[in-house]
Amino acid sequence: MNLRIVTCWPPKLLLAASAGWAQDDGDLATAVTTHREMVVTANPLATAAGAHILKIGGTAVDAMVAVQTVLGLVEPQSTGIGGGAFIVYYDAKHQQTITLDAREKAPAAATEDRFVNAGGFTNAWQSGLSVGVPGVPRMMEHMHAKYGRLPWQRLFVPAKVMAQRGFALTERTSSQVAGLLAANPSCADGERLFFRDPVAFEYFVNTDDCTAKPAGTRMINKPYANTLKALARWGADAFYHGPIAEDIAAAVQGDLNIPGDMTTDDLANYQVVEREPVCMYYRGHRVCGMGPPSSGGLAVGQILGLMENRPDLMGSDPLDVDTVHLFTQAGRLAFADRNQYVGDSDFVSVPVAGMLDEGYLADRAALITETDMGPADPGIPPGVVGPSGPHNAAKLSGTSHVSIVDRYGNALSMTTTVESSFGNGVMVRGFLLNNELTDFSFAPTDNQGNPVANRVQPNKRPRSSMSPTLVFDADGKVELVTGSPGGSRIIGYTAQSIVNVIDFGLDPQEAINVPHYMNRNGRTDIEEPIPGITLEYDAQALADALEAKGHNVGIIAQTSGLSIIQVVESEYHKKGKKNGKGRKHHHHRLLIGGADKRRDGTVGGR
Ligand code: DON
Repeated sequence: MNLRIVTCWPPKLLLAASAGWAQDDGDLATAVTTHREMVVTANPLATAAGAHILKIGGTAVDAMVAVQTVLGLVEPQSTGIGGGAFIVYYDAKHQQTITLDAREKAPAAATEDRFVNAGGFTNAWQSGLSVGVPGVPRMMEHMHAKYGRLPWQRLFVPAKVMAQRGFALTERTSSQVAGLLAANPSCADGERLFFRDPVAFEYFVNTDDCTAKPAGTRMINKPYANTLKALARWGADAFYHGPIAEDIAAAVQGDLNIPGDMTTDDLANYQVVEREPVCMYYRGHRVCGMGPPSSGGLAVGQILGLMENRPDLMGSDPLDVDTVHLFTQAGRLAFADRNQYVGDSDFVSVPVAGMLDEGYLADRAALITETDMGPADPGIPPGVVGPSGPHNAAKLSGTSHVSIVDRYGNALSMTTTVESSFGNGVMVRGFLLNNELTDFSFAPTDNQGNPVANRVQPNKRPRSSMSPTLVFDADGKVELVTGSPGGSRIIGYTAQSIVNVIDFGLDPQEAINVPHYMNRNGRTDIEEPIPGITLEYDAQALADALEAKGHNVGIIAQTSGLSIIQVVESEYHKKGKKNGKGRKHHHHRLLIGGADKRRDGTVGGR
């Protein structure tokens, strides 16, 4: 089956023409279109800051710095300068795609048994053990030095002004504070686990009655403004050396729950790494994502590659039981491999090329039948070295995706995170510390004693599911920028967004509005419809149809946060002068943006 992507305007017409797809949009969000530049983020203030930087001539990277610093203030449950990020970036001038690994690192003192006796996930999460050396400040500096255009200091202005003058707390932040407070057995000092840190407690909570500050509260964060001033003036060194680094190490080592072992040397030694993108072809489109330590690019690529191998099983509508079945079976196989093989490739051997090898994917795809295959075993991709054990964890909440295209043709896809909601819950100088190290396998070996690829090791980066992705057309032009938060569900959200656009001709917003489905090699989950947010559909009927194919189905609420930009290039000839000469060749570019209304996503630009 060779299905087409939207190549001309308006995509709506193509949508209406796509087989079997009858949609009543109702009040659902519709795509935003611009011509020059576009930014999509999970928060309107961050989108506005990014759009402003683009408007004054900034590059996608300039806008990203403004967006990232604002998100750290207004969406602190998800991302910030105390966290890490991955970027897939298309540099138009050099026609080159790079990825940047700004993943947090384990301290040098970390050992394999770090989490073995930590008292389970929650206790480890809310502790000093979970904090990885942050990557975001170095990431911003590295990217700006290579791809920025506006002065570095200029990019911090929006966040600094907002931190000083105040901004309105969002409903999302407030309700997530309330959710964590409710999980505390007691609110008393010394007895709280969530918001145990008195600084974070005072910032987010009405301390007299222990309730979350309500949505709309004017939040002022002077310490954050001061941290940004230091970063703006002295660059990332202001974060990794000197008083800020000393405060981070002290907060980690002095954690009120379980002290950690991060030192100022760990901070001083942190480096971001440029890595090759992981690319594959899907129906003639080149899909490029993030390689290890993220499992995102490999797992998204495997899902797509497996699907392309089975046109006989593909449906004609995004919510067809056939489409959902094929997607979930591909998900099972991809997660089996991901769990088995992916870890930080600076420490363990990951068969990156083998996992996307065409012959290998064809063999794996042959395992898919008309009924649910049940738990898939990992395959043996070309290039596997030695035995390894799986790490099957699946987690939720605390990440943001940013998609940007600038007027120069550069495209940036960044997923940025503090891991769980509000990271590890400790605030230093106005920002929260991450708990990214809980992305490591808590068990260093499997039941047979094989070392787990994603076990803790000193200075190692934990495996991620973050899947910032760029898709290119046959001419090598960027045609899609996509990615999402959602823990290991990120992989399914991102893959499904690509299928929705490429196979079904949906525009970015329509692609986001389709309810999600996936199988992470366990249960098949389908998303319950959310009125006004997702397409209405009969989830029970889909569940019944899947169960008839042997699936065990859960109908669940989901936490995606896709930010998608589609780039539509068209060229046309316009008649020139009367004498027939001068037929003009016009190049026309449209940017079509979609944001996830399951979160506070917005699209900006001109
Ligand atoms: O890197 C990862 O895969 C996770 N730390 C991401 C966490 C996440 O997406 C939570 N999101 N809602």
